[in-house]
Amino acid sequence: MLILLFLPHTILLCIVSSYTTKTYYHQKHFTFHQHHLKTTKKWNDNMKRIEKNELFDNIKKESITKMMMSSSSDNESSSISLANNNPYQPSTIPKQKKKVLKPFSRYLEIECWKRQELRALQPVLQAVSDACKQINRIVQRAQTDDLYGAAAAVSSSGGGADVEVDENGNIIIETNIQGEVQQKLDVVCNTFMMRALCGSSSKVIMAIASEEEDVVRSCCDVMGNPELTTKGGDYVAVFDPIDGSKNIDASLPVGTIFGIYKTQPGTSSNDNKANENDAFLQKGDQMVAAGYCLYSATTVLVLTLGSGVDGFTLDPDKGTFLHTHQDLRIPASGTIYSFNEANFHDYNEPVQRYLNALKSGLTSSVGKRSTARYLGSLVADVHNILINGGIFGYPATYANPDGKLRLLYEGCPMAMIMEQAGGAASTGYGRILDIMPHQIHQRIPTFLGSIENVYELDQFFEYYGDDNNTDSNTKDNHEDKEWMSYYHS
Ligand code: F6P
Ligand code: MN
Repeated sequence: MLILLFLPHTILLCIVSSYTTKTYYHQKHFTFHQHHLKTTKKWNDNMKRIEKNELFDNIKKESITKMMMSSSSDNESSSISLANNNPYQPSTIPKQKKKVLKPFSRYLEIECWKRQELRALQPVLQAVSDACKQINRIVQRAQTDDLYGAAAAVSSSGGGADVEVDENGNIIIETNIQGEVQQKLDVVCNTFMMRALCGSSSKVIMAIASEEEDVVRSCCDVMGNPELTTKGGDYVAVFDPIDGSKNIDASLPVGTIFGIYKTQPGTSSNDNKANENDAFLQKGDQMVAAGYCLYSATTVLVLTLGSGVDGFTLDPDKGTFLHTHQDLRIPASGTIYSFNEANFHDYNEPVQRYLNALKSGLTSSVGKRSTARYLGSLVADVHNILINGGIFGYPATYANPDGKLRLLYEGCPMAMIMEQAGGAASTGYGRILDIMPHQIHQRIPTFLGSIENVYELDQFFEYYGDDNNTDSNTKDNHEDKEWMSYYHS
């Protein structure tokens, strides 16, 4: 009875509720539908604007077209189908005057034709640029090909190459002569560079010195070709195959640095190891060519042949270095300083005072407060300074009175590039390129950059690093002076 009484109410309630829910969902669906229409309209409008070239005004339309075309051919099922009604059809896009960039090989051909004394180096430099492309590729593939991390030491005893283990069976990690852990990539890229320098032409490079090799190596040894032993070569090459390689794990920039010297008379016999080593002990200003390759947002090859600096950017589609930076000049002064400031308290007084002056905007070279940029990758940090102006520094510290950077294959090539671009390179006490090396892995305090900035830093050294200084920190000054006379005598 009671149930019967409530039944009509319940039915009524159900009908009302079902109606409300339906209306709600209809409305919701309607709103969604409206939104969808709006979005589609917006999309269509944009497409029309693209067709009329109202969008992307500042972007090279040709490259967009190319990108879009290739994305459609790469992926047939791509959601943006360009096969029909393609709004990016080249015909709808007005032709833009394209800057013609010379390939590196053409630049080299002309430079080496102009200057007889460089002719022999043409195949070598071409091979180095190819090695940079290989290194670039390997850096790009490091993650996917598992090339990250420390390299295991390899023993070649017994014919094959075996990974070395300690008495507990743990893999021994390879270190270089400076006790630094060698990364897998260091080892691979070292081989690329050695082969490029030694293998491109049999009579050009006699021997190489690399950051990754404990001692100087003759090209005949590198190439396993005894014929080269007797032939010698007129040049020696120094290089750091992959500088800042610790950066790779975090996908940060790294670089390759190289320099080429003429072999000194009396040092070219490959039979005599002592002579071979002596061939490398020359002042940096004897270098005939120097360069670096930066693997970063773009891959750039910067080269000097002793008459200015030129830069080439790798076109990733063509796989060719193109002449993007003609006669590169560093600004006369700049606001960037690139130092590892965590070492500030270990720097000597001139450097500390100079950095404080930069931070308070009290230097005459900059005239306003400076800004800091530091990646911990010499090539990337120096390239930034070369393009934008300022100063890079790796000064002496208490722990490392000679600084950290190596004179032969880091300091000197970078110094030559800086000077050739109108900048300067100093130890704080004088020109880096004037230093006579006494061994191949020697380190040197290094300051590179705009001429005004480096000159002013040298002034701080002159003023605060000698007898004029009456500060209590006399021990430092004494050490500085000893250091100064050792290198700049
Ligand atoms: O080759 C040495 C290097 O990796 C350079 O590329 C770089 O400028 C420097 O060391 C960074 O050293 P730190 O980590 O001490 O600042
Ligand atoms: Mn290095």
